[in-house]
Amino acid sequence: MVIRETPERFKLEDTTIWSFPERGNWATHSGKYRGNWSPYIPRNIILRYSKKKDWILDQFLGSGTTLIEAKLLGRNAIGVDINSEAVKLSNTNLNFTCQEKSKIFTKQGNANNLSFIKDESIDLICTHPPYADIIRYSKEIPGDISHLKYEDFLQELEQVAKESYRVLINKKCFSDMA
Ligand SMILES: C[S@@+](CC[C@H](N)C(=O)[O-])C[C@H]1O[C@@H](n2cnc3c(N)ncnc32)[C@H](O)[C@@H]1O
Repeated sequence: MVIRETPERFKLEDTTIWSFPERGNWATHSGKYRGNWSPYIPRNIILRYSKKKDWILDQFLGSGTTLIEAKLLGRNAIGVDINSEAVKLSNTNLNFTCQEKSKIFTKQGNANNLSFIKDESIDLICTHPPYADIIRYSKEIPGDISHLKYEDFLQELEQVAKESYRVLINKKCFSDMA
């Protein structure tokens, strides 16, 4: 599929307050997946905190917004979602060719157990967890934390944070980004 690889106007954000007048519809991005994020967000994070060929993880993959940006920007990436329908949709959204070459993997799984990823192998985590008990992402998939009440949700996120810490490369610093 031929796609538009870049936004029409893009300027890297340089403050902590970000505002995007349009949500962004380049490549295969669309706002159709409920509660997905604007592709400007992962684009800014990836460009600011990684370099080409780095490994990026999004363990709450959704419709694949982060991995689409990783692919367009020449980063390798792994995406995980508890819901196989989300993984299927991401695979469809990732089915395009672009100028950059990268390795992109998606997998159905639970963000609290990433045992298939080695310790200290990920350069950057760029992810967007569900909102506790607000938007439910499935009817009854075991492990879907969007169903949990606030306290239980926080407990699960703690486990996700531990897994994130395990897989992230230790002492990675911004000077590595050159
Ligand atoms: C806010 S959405 C991510 C949207 C994504 N950033 C996008 O732009 O499409 C959160 C995702 O987390 C998934 N999810 C919920 N519990 C999970 C878990 N325990 N492990 C992995 N994914 C989970 C949901 O299925 C949902 O797709």
